[in-house]
Amino acid sequence: MRLALMASVALAGLTMNAATSRAAEELNLICSADVVICEMMQQMFQTDTGIQVNMVRLSSGETYAKIRAEARNPKTDIWWAGTGDPHLQAASEGLTQEYKSPLLAGLQDWAKKQAESSGYRTVGVYAGALGWGYNTEIFSQKNYKEPKCWADLLDASFKGEIQMANPNSSGTAYTALATLVQIMGEDKAFEYLKNLNANVSQYTKSGSAPVKAAARGETALGIVFMHDAVAQTAEGFPVKSVAPCEGTGYEIGSMSIVKGARNLDNAKRWYDWALKADVQSHMKDAKSFQLPSNSKAEVPKESPKFEDIKLIDYDFKTYGDPTERKKLLERWDREIGANAN
Ligand code: F6P
Repeated sequence: MRLALMASVALAGLTMNAATSRAAEELNLICSADVVICEMMQQMFQTDTGIQVNMVRLSSGETYAKIRAEARNPKTDIWWAGTGDPHLQAASEGLTQEYKSPLLAGLQDWAKKQAESSGYRTVGVYAGALGWGYNTEIFSQKNYKEPKCWADLLDASFKGEIQMANPNSSGTAYTALATLVQIMGEDKAFEYLKNLNANVSQYTKSGSAPVKAAARGETALGIVFMHDAVAQTAEGFPVKSVAPCEGTGYEIGSMSIVKGARNLDNAKRWYDWALKADVQSHMKDAKSFQLPSNSKAEVPKESPKFEDIKLIDYDFKTYGDPTERKKLLERWDREIGANAN
């Protein structure tokens, strides 16, 4: 009887220990890149560290909204990937935690700059330029001319043939909005977006959805990051990517630790791990063709290279500011979203 009692007490102790250590070895992650790379990173980290990763995939704007809403009681430890603007917006509102990784020195200048300008509340993990991808089969069947410039997308022949994301949820679409404002000035950019609206069949939630739809023949063209178009080509779909002739914006995909993270040590472990060259060199295995931020990571041959693209001098300070974001999105909702097809 006594022995049985001792055994059950010992067993209870063991179970408790296991539960406590399990609780300590967890990480709550929001991933704002493509779900395939999100799942690959989750698995790789779990294997490398034994830490259980609870991951959800949300678009960049959705994640920013969630982290804001949970500021008093954070449920997320780390936010990996997604466009840099909302990471900067979260940083400037004090929603993310300052951290200087020992790996910072080995990063590309654009990634270090992202960290410095946010007071080390975020850091660049990859970069990529905005453009579009179109379905070459639909284009040849319908005798469409390749649109080489933003202006070409307004051609009446593309009525209902274009998709882009909604800039409220999607960082890609917010980058597109901010890019057009920088190229044309705000009023002209909204005039352009109103005209483009006639050709847009759908504003999707996630940024890469439009080119996935184009790849499958559901639409002719998607305005997306060029690496997302290239990923569809690499999957074997008839997709061609274009860098706009007037110039284009780009993202510094970022990573931030949430202020008040419950698993702070594990969040720092992920942070340092995700900046490693060998981890970033694996991104191509999930057909993630962004430019890696670690200068020693392998740049995939498929990656659209900045040297080949006419890039604008994207103003991350202005467009990463929460007030500017709110103003542009309210105007987009009023003038474009409210009149969507
Ligand atoms: O699909 C990958 C990707 O384009 C990333 O490069 C980018 O940071 C992210 O998706 C943006 O997604 P969304 O537009 O859905 O916020």
